[in-house]
Amino acid sequence: MELCEKIIKNQLFKKTLKKTKKAEKHRIFCRHGIEHLLDTARIAYILSLENSLDIDKDIIYAAALLHDCGRFKQYEDSTPHEEAGAVIARQILEQIDCEQTTAELIINAVAEHRKGHCTSNLSRIIFEADKASRMCLFCKAEKECNHSKTKKNMKIIY
Ligand SMILES: [Fe+2]
Ligand SMILES: [Fe+2]
Repeated sequence: MELCEKIIKNQLFKKTLKKTKKAEKHRIFCRHGIEHLLDTARIAYILSLENSLDIDKDIIYAAALLHDCGRFKQYEDSTPHEEAGAVIARQILEQIDCEQTTAELIINAVAEHRKGHCTSNLSRIIFEADKASRMCLFCKAEKECNHSKTKKNMKIIY
């Protein structure tokens, strides 16, 4: 888990987590802190195993850790966070000397994590895991949340 180790120690990554945490201090809906990132990583890894996708575990976790790194920017100036996140993820991956092909795959997954149209298996599992990670069943703000009933996770699947 070399990539993950480097990401969680990276100063820019830590800064994005801090800024998002601050921006979400009073948010009643799903937050985007480290718990969400790891939930997404673990579910994405389960999906990879269930579907025999043979994607490197470190790469799955790295993409999940980075997928919402642009979230604070959306609160700041309404930039869609997958766009802001792709730019920031690129900077982080450059700083930790991530190999180019792997970096592009991860950046692409960050950029596509809110779109149903995914161009790689990694993108697809991050997209699915991100949605599956919401704990709507136990959420106090479920009634106020505008996600459609069909999109809410009202049963335990992962
Ligand atoms: Fe997101
Ligand atoms: Fe997310």
